[in-house]
Amino acid sequence: MAGQSYTAAQAAAASGAIIDVADVGLTLTSRAGPVEILRGVSLRIAAGESVAVVGPSGSGKTSLLMILAGLERASRGRVEVVGEDFSKMSEDALAEARGRDIGIVFQSFHLVPTMTALENVALPLEFAGRRDALGVARKLLGEVGLKDRTEHFPAELSGGEQQRVALARAVSGQPRLLLADEPTGNLDGRTGAQVIELLFDLHKRHGSTLVLITHDDGLAARCDRTVRMADGRIISDEAQAIRTAEPRTAAQ
Ligand SMILES: Nc1ncnc2c1ncn2[C@@H]1O[C@H](COP(=O)(O)OP(=O)(O)OP(=O)(O)O)[C@@H](O)[C@H]1O
Ligand SMILES: [Mg+2]
Repeated sequence: MAGQSYTAAQAAAASGAIIDVADVGLTLTSRAGPVEILRGVSLRIAAGESVAVVGPSGSGKTSLLMILAGLERASRGRVEVVGEDFSKMSEDALAEARGRDIGIVFQSFHLVPTMTALENVALPLEFAGRRDALGVARKLLGEVGLKDRTEHFPAELSGGEQQRVALARAVSGQPRLLLADEPTGNLDGRTGAQVIELLFDLHKRHGSTLVLITHDDGLAARCDRTVRMADGRIISDEAQAIRTAEPRTAAQ
């Protein structure tokens, strides 16, 4: 143990990076043979940043998010997230890191089917030992427009409603890192806007880092940075062009 107390992952975290991945590859085996899904992705995201991930369908966005969430293991490369080296951790340790530090909003919702909307949202809070879990969960469901649906089970909710429950659950524990995969995909304009406000609110008020996969240019423009993927690679990584009241260094 001695001499192992300061890992590379902790060093990256100490320097301000909450995500530090380098040369990440993902190869999955399909019936047609191995498919190279990620081909050497390197990405560093500082704590508190908001980053949009954009790119065509099939370019690897969700796959990258799965790796950042510790839900998929990279075939190669370095994966350091929330100060932990994900490549060296057991499934249990990954689940613990996720529960502690990461909020995830997916295209599919992964709600617990035997729990009501309220119980689903309260779950991370209860894990964190919060006595006011149900009260906080009720408030969050109100904020996503589901005040009257708290006792419904996921099967009794529409797709958009399930997505909003999933979002309320993802933000309820105020995680340091929020990973969102097209969080407004199933929502109408107004509800989608409410959901987005909740994400950006947590990012702004609590300094949570936000990684947001989106096909919406307007949404990408609200993030500090846009990472563009194509064919399993990052093809560009740019700070937002227009930032009022902040001097730009490069004129380009
Ligand atoms: N289990 C799997 N086995 C083989 N190939 C897979 C598997 N899962 C995903 N893929 C392939 O990996 C590629 C990247 O998929 P991914 O879901 O990351 O794309 P995406 O950028 O999120 O696309 P979208 O915008 O449509 O959600 C796709 O071509 C997909 O067909
Ligand atoms: Mg996807």
